[in-house]
Amino acid sequence: MVSLPTAVVIGAGGGIGGAFVAALRNTGRYGRIHAFARTPPTSFSSVFGGQINVTNEESIAAAAMTVGSPVDLVLIATGMLHEGGRMPEKALRELDANTLARIFEVNTIGPALALKHFSPLLPKDRRAMIGVISARVGSISDNRSGGWFGYRASKAALNMIVKSAAIEIARSRPEAVCVALHPGTVDTRLSLPFQHGVAPDRLFSPERAARQLLDVIDGLKPIDTGKVFGWDGEEIQP
Ligand SMILES: NC(=O)c1ccc[n+]([C@@H]2O[C@H](COP(=O)([O-])OP(=O)(O)OC[C@H]3O[C@@H](n4cnc5c(N)ncnc54)[C@H](OP(=O)(O)O)[C@@H]3O)[C@@H](O)[C@H]2O)c1
Repeated sequence: MVSLPTAVVIGAGGGIGGAFVAALRNTGRYGRIHAFARTPPTSFSSVFGGQINVTNEESIAAAAMTVGSPVDLVLIATGMLHEGGRMPEKALRELDANTLARIFEVNTIGPALALKHFSPLLPKDRRAMIGVISARVGSISDNRSGGWFGYRASKAALNMIVKSAAIEIARSRPEAVCVALHPGTVDTRLSLPFQHGVAPDRLFSPERAARQLLDVIDGLKPIDTGKVFGWDGEEIQP
């Protein structure tokens, strides 16, 4: 009997991560969907809730052990832009070492450690996907307005982590695709303070964002591995 594929969503407590879990479930394509969040989601039918704090490597390693292999799809949808009322920097004078370290810890190091522990679970003999949610503002060539130093830099560094991971994964898993993804502006806690001025048709619901990104992922090929793609399927230059 051929078993249905397994998917993993890390950051399932967030707007986009939660919508990923629901969208994957709706496809009916996955036999098991492992949904990880800092507060473990409730398990039901094909969805298995578990705990990951991406700033705690032990929690990531333990979660990967519970999942086992093979895993056909890994989505990493964790991230932060503001925390505890501290908003992104508008100017150099606002830079703060602890805030910069924290945003790199969550946005760059956390997903890197998730790649470390979950990429070995990908099958070697068939297509497998890793999608890491990044952001267009992590593109250095696309930076025209400055500001948001920590967030921009943490996502640019994340894109580099994804690129190096993709090169390594391709050596043992030639059919695998590992990419960074920009979801567009999505109506979640993260974007809430910055939604003014966004045209209503450009503020996506988490459900729409998740569907769009899953469509993009579906269309990717091994030649695309290591790149950054937007919600519309267009490649974003570094
Ligand atoms: N919304 C947008 O417009 C937009 C645009 C571009 C890129 N993005 C990216 O999309 C991704 C998802 O964000 P979102 O919009 O869905 O925001 P969100 O609703 O705030 O979700 C963020 C998620 O990250 C999780 N998280 C934060 N720190 C964590 C940690 N240490 N360990 C584990 N999980 C942690 C949060 O967990 P808790 O639920 O436990 O707090 C939450 O699940 C982020 O990478 C963000 O940068 C979003």
